[in-house]
Order: sequence, then structure tokens, then C-alpha cells
Amino acid sequence: MERPTPLSAHRLAVIIDSWDTGSGPAYRRLADRIRAAVMDGRIPTGTRLPSERTLAEATGLSRTTTARAYETLRETGLARTRHGSGTVVEVPLGAAGSTSMLGRPAGEDGLALTAAATEAPEGFARLVEHALRSLPAVLATDGYLPDGLPFLRERLAARFAAQGLPTDPEQIVVTTGAQSALSLLIAVLVRPGDRVMVESCGYPHAFDMLTRAGARLVPLPLGETPWPLDDVARIAPAVQTALIVADHHNPTGALMSSQDRRAVARTLSNAGVTTIVDETLRDVSIGGAPVPEPYAVHDPRAIVIGSAAKSLWGGLRIGWIRAPRSLVPRLVQERMLRDLGTAALDQLVVATALERGEIMPEGRAADLRRRRDALIAAVEDRLPDWRLSRPDGGLSVWATLPEAVSSALSIAAQEEGLTLTPGPRFFPTHPALGERHLRLPLVLPPERVEEAVSRLARAWARLGSGHALAPGDPDAVDLIA
Ligand SMILES: Cc1ncc(COP(=O)(O)O)c(C=O)c1O
Repeated sequence: MERPTPLSAHRLAVIIDSWDTGSGPAYRRLADRIRAAVMDGRIPTGTRLPSERTLAEATGLSRTTTARAYETLRETGLARTRHGSGTVVEVPLGAAGSTSMLGRPAGEDGLALTAAATEAPEGFARLVEHALRSLPAVLATDGYLPDGLPFLRERLAARFAAQGLPTDPEQIVVTTGAQSALSLLIAVLVRPGDRVMVESCGYPHAFDMLTRAGARLVPLPLGETPWPLDDVARIAPAVQTALIVADHHNPTGALMSSQDRRAVARTLSNAGVTTIVDETLRDVSIGGAPVPEPYAVHDPRAIVIGSAAKSLWGGLRIGWIRAPRSLVPRLVQERMLRDLGTAALDQLVVATALERGEIMPEGRAADLRRRRDALIAAVEDRLPDWRLSRPDGGLSVWATLPEAVSSALSIAAQEEGLTLTPGPRFFPTHPALGERHLRLPLVLPPERVEEAVSRLARAWARLGSGHALAPGDPDAVDLIA
């Protein structure tokens, strides 16, 4: 049987910080908080929760309250007490797909504003048909392609070159999505105890992978942009590695300016920091500002990750790495321990899309723009106190709430049949800072947005007033970090 991973009472208290919002008995509110953190992936299944006593000490709650909260988790099938192993989080089998931002809608008419991913765009089937015309070239290989389909590597290299980054196809490794690219790079580059600069807020699965690898996350605080230059300069000398999402940053949608690219790249490369630039959302431009030159133009040693998941379709599971030549053999060796290669037919589809200039198919930008505008209009109408970003790209709108209640709102929304990812999920080391935020992905077509936002507004109304707590105050948060 798998051994449970312990979670300290201190860490759990940070994860569920500001638990004491909303109404109802304290034990239920505590159980709701823990349940929300389990369902959005902050507390992975197989985690051993701290003892009732230590949690009571860390939160200032009574032992009876923590005991009843754990009992509630057990009753709802989210935890089990094993003899000798304490209370262990266990997600029921049918709910396993919803333990992350992939959160599936609850119930039959449930809606989810969780994953930043859409259904395949119109015309996708036609693209697959075109791809099949080149099938003989793929069938002539043995199908095991540890560095990628040559056809695709050539097209990716040509594309980088056209963007100002001369690239040899040998510098490209095709991966099973950007997720797998990140995981490979972390395995090869990051050692336990390494310090890694990350954006805060940022992409949570990257935080989870880095933490799992034993890295220590050093967050860039969220300023006017996710990359305040003074903080980059302060942190750079203290880290070995940096992870940056400069294009349509997830979750804020921010685009790093050309000037900032130059400045950040100079600071990090002068400090000898190995930089990973995640361009997963680069191609998802939906109108407005033109996307500046790739970050790596200013730091050619930066390692670039890309993906077809957001521009084309997540179901393809195609990503890639552009790395200095010297790193490629290590990456390929590492991936031989994992998946031996990426599905050849999926690679063919992406190669065909690139050949036809359809990595962001015609019509997709206009469709996403309609989704964005409908979402913003509905929220502005129903929730006029909220502040919203108006991103020029990416797959989500970033909301700033007038009160620090994102987790409580997500719990209330679930009751209304709407699954949300609470803001704290996007803040790696100080989750309570996320209580003022909510990511609203552009996943619903305009005709369904209205219903989702009515549910959101009903959940907001349920919270009533007077529930905001201190966590919006960064000083208070620092004390518990
Ligand atoms: C910044 C970022 N990196 C990586 C990924 C994972 O992408 P993929 O689906 O290609 O694995 C995502 C998905 O949302 C993302 O937003």
C-alpha cells in the first residue's frame, strides 16, 4: 500500500488560512476549507493530515472542532483513518478527475470555471484529415520518437528562427504537452534544496512539480505586473533557476513588455540564473496588443517550452522544449525513463497545422474574444464591485474581489452548481494573498456565460457581508509563512 505523505499542521493552517469565513458551525467551515483544497489539488490524495491536536494548536481552534471536521471529511468520503497512519486524504474514484483545476462540473447541470482549456476549435477535424495525407511518412518510422517526429522538429525550428531565434531542429525535443516538458526540465535541472524564482501568482501545477522535486520556491510578488523589476534584481542572486511565463501570463493574462524582457533577461543572465520560459500561451493572442519578441531573444541560453494545447487543442498533448544543444541528450535520456516518446499521429497533426499556418486556427481568436467580452459584460453587470482584467490573450480573465473571500465564494458557488478554482491556488507560498482573486477561464460560449455568472452572483450574495478577514493584509500573512 502507498505510504501517505505527511502534511504539517503549520502548512495546513497556511493552506486553509482565512478558513473562518462564511456562516455555519466552525467544524463545518473548517471541513469545507479542507475539502476545497483537496478538490483543487492543493492537498493531494494520499496526504496524511496533521493530528487533530496539532491542527487545533496551529489554528487556535478547539480539539472538538478539528475532530468533528475530520469526522465530516470521513463521512463525505474524503478521508479515511487508518490504524497507525492517522487521517489520510482519499478522493473517491469517480471524483479523481476533478482533483485539480480540471475540476469537472458537479452534477448534471453543473458548470465549471476551472480549467483554462476549451473544446477543439472549429475546423479541427479538417486539420486532422489534412494531416492524414502525410501519414505514409510517419508510418515509415517505427513510431518511437524519443526526441520527436523530424517533420515537426523542423517546422518548430523554422518557426523559432522566424521569430528571431535561430534554431537547429536538433535543439528541439517534442514532449507530451508542456506539462511533461516542465517535468523533464525539472528532473534534469533542479536538485532538492535548489531555490527557484517563480511568479506569484502563477501556474500552480508548476509549483506542485517544483515542490515535489524538493525545490524551494522564491516568489516574485505581484506588483503592477507579475515581474516587478526591483524584485527580480533582489531575488536573482539568491536562486539557481527561474520559471517565467512572459506571454499571456497564467492566470493574470499579462504580457511582459519588450523593455521588461530585456531588463529581466539581463538581470537573470548576469546572475547566472538558468531561466525556463514557458510559452504555452504565447500563440493565444485574441486581439489588442501585438505580442513582443520571444523572451529568449534577450537570453539565448534560456530554455523555452511551448505547447499546442491552448492554441489548438489540449487533447493533442503536444508540447516541446527548445534547449541549448548540450542539454538535449540529457533530456532525451530522462524521457526514455518516462514515456519513450510522444504519440506520432498527434505530432503529425501539429506539424500539419504549422505547415498550414494554423497553429491558432482561423476563427479561434474571434471566438475567444467573444467569450472574453461576454464574460466581462456579465460580471460587470452582476458584480459591479469586482475589478476585471481585459487580457489581449490567454484563456482567462483575472478578477480582483472587493473582499478577501475567494475560498468561501468557491464553496458557496459549489452549492449553486458552479465549480471554481479559489484564488489561493495560484499563490505558491502565501496562499492567503489569493483570497482577493479569482481566475475566470474563457471556457464557456457566450450563451452559457450568462447562467454561470448568475450562479456566481448568487454565491456572492450568499456570503453576505462582514466576512472579510485580515488575509488581504500582506503583513499579517508574512507572520504565518
Ligand atoms: C503556463 C502553463 N504551462 C503549462 C501548461 C500545461 O500545458 P499542456 O496542456 O501543454 O501540458 C499550462 C496549462 O494550462 C499552462 O497554463
